[in-house]
Amino acid sequence: MNQDEMKKAAAEAALEYVESGMVVGIGTGSTANHFIDLLAGMKGKIDGTVASSEASAERLKGHGIRVMDLNSAGQLSLYVDGADESNRHLHLIKGGGGALTREKIVAGASDKFVCIADGSKLVDVLGTFPLPIEVIPMARSLVAREMVKLGGQPVLREGFTTDNGNIILDVHNLQIMEPEKMETAINQIPGVVTVGIFAHRGADVLILGTPDGVNKIEA
Ligand code: A5P
Repeated sequence: MNQDEMKKAAAEAALEYVESGMVVGIGTGSTANHFIDLLAGMKGKIDGTVASSEASAERLKGHGIRVMDLNSAGQLSLYVDGADESNRHLHLIKGGGGALTREKIVAGASDKFVCIADGSKLVDVLGTFPLPIEVIPMARSLVAREMVKLGGQPVLREGFTTDNGNIILDVHNLQIMEPEKMETAINQIPGVVTVGIFAHRGADVLILGTPDGVNKIEA
């Protein structure tokens, strides 16, 4: 099984969490795309979806799946999304696709967060994957200096603007031993819109596609 097949297997296993009449929160990225494509096969069962990015909204609409505004949908029962890294406590790094702010909003509005990924995303300590931070453009250099103080090496994601009109700093060389504390600390820096650590609201279930089949870890 290649990496893409493992992502697809994880996405397929997440379908069992979809119940009749639900409005499902939908993440962003190649694994979430597999989930969207599989959800198309049961679109009559659900009431609609809330997308965490313009890209996912377009893909959903392409399948004829209803996309709703989060403010009209209210609290969601289920959110399904990928991740760039997860530890065994289901604290995540997200934002490799730059959609972290809307992902954090939809995750925060959902009762259950099912994270789908291939097995390579499971790590002992978060931080090998550069930590994405969405920043208001005028605060770029302030936030970068503060991240250097926290031990990281921030790099501007060149030529990239988020769906919210902001920039992304990818912070290298962090060893995130205490994800909740680090998330709180970075949230305090003026100009930070969202940090890609999902620890205060991590996943509830992690479904990993591996060469030996699908593994599930519950928080
Ligand atoms: C998007 O901003 C990210 O948080 C994605 O969830 C993450 O990058 C996972 O992407 P893949 O499913 O493509 O690995």
